[in-house]
Amino acid sequence: MSAFEAIRVSEHVLWVGAIDWGLRDFHGYATHRGTTYNAYLILSDPITLVDTVKAGFKSEMLARIASAVELSKVKVIISNHAEMDHSGSLPEVARELQPGRILVSAQGKEALERHFHWGREVEVVREGERYDLGAGLGARFVETPMLHWPDSMFTYLEEDAVLFSNDAFGMHLASGARFADQLEPELWREEAARYYANILLPLSPIVTKLLGRLAGLKLGPRIIAPDHGPVWRRHPENIVRLYGEWAAQAPTRKAVVVHDTMWKSTDRMAAAIGEGLSAGGMLVRQMPLSGAHRSDVAAELLEAGALLVGSPTINNQMFPTIADVLTYLKGLRPRNLVGAAFGSYGWGGQAVGQIEEQLRELKVDLAAEGLKLPYVPDEEGLARCRALGEQVAARMSERLEANARANG
Ligand code: FEO
Repeated sequence: MSAFEAIRVSEHVLWVGAIDWGLRDFHGYATHRGTTYNAYLILSDPITLVDTVKAGFKSEMLARIASAVELSKVKVIISNHAEMDHSGSLPEVARELQPGRILVSAQGKEALERHFHWGREVEVVREGERYDLGAGLGARFVETPMLHWPDSMFTYLEEDAVLFSNDAFGMHLASGARFADQLEPELWREEAARYYANILLPLSPIVTKLLGRLAGLKLGPRIIAPDHGPVWRRHPENIVRLYGEWAAQAPTRKAVVVHDTMWKSTDRMAAAIGEGLSAGGMLVRQMPLSGAHRSDVAAELLEAGALLVGSPTINNQMFPTIADVLTYLKGLRPRNLVGAAFGSYGWGGQAVGQIEEQLRELKVDLAAEGLKLPYVPDEEGLARCRALGEQVAARMSERLEANARANG
């Protein structure tokens, strides 16, 4: 018996991936709970492997495969996506298994060549056609360009109604549980949201279109098997519905206040602003950057209606920690946010204007003029902070009402 075993997902599908318990950084996204690289076997004839794993995890994957079938019987590999967490071990796996066919999207062919420079023949699949896998099983492919790379695609095993969704509907969560229904709902929801916020948020318009296209294809998957985190074998429609909601980025009552501080003055300002937001009926999430990572901020913003950012001025600039978060958010393009900038300063005070500029680039609706206070805020200054919070809350309320009217 092997330490690493395959786990059955459906009649003809086994999970044969790898668990990365120690991963804490995924290209800038803090993965507090590690991740999994999911690969799947389809018990076709010959046997098909759907995706591989990150380099360094090949042995674990091959051990899981070998626990269920003879390695020599795996003769087809489907590569849904060329990013290294799924293809890093592909060249070595292909050398060992000598598959007769490697199936990829047109963009995948180019991407794999540009990664591995291997001159290997691969077979480009076309959307809409059924590909016979043998043993009475067949796959269809759905091209999902820019979800989240140009080459990304889904594979659908018709007989078991399993959708291999690659990065979509996944999460970075290392766990001994292979299925979402074995986890606490709060845990999978938190990690799925965090993943959406940090990977898919800028692609929300494409997500909305894809969900419409998937509905039109009438695949009706009973199981959604992503390449990270647990498999959705019960009510997979729940995660699809959540993606629809997250992509819409509708306004909410949550206000995220991000700040850093030098001598606690900007910190006091943030607290007073939070009081104003609360008084205006909003839910406040204070995110001092002494304790929050940029990807924590992104995750909080996913279901938020406001972003307020505060920084002292140091050497005529905003704090580097604040610049880091704003640069990260600029790439993730959260939408439909109200906001404001604030900060304490000694003599220059440039940070507040710099933050406002960045918030405008993020298309944040500035509900109040940026507030900068010299040195340590006095009672009058703190009252102005509270008033700023109330102003932002009032604009959030207007947006909530407008959204409610628009949705009947
Ligand atoms: Fe786009 Fe999980 O890689």
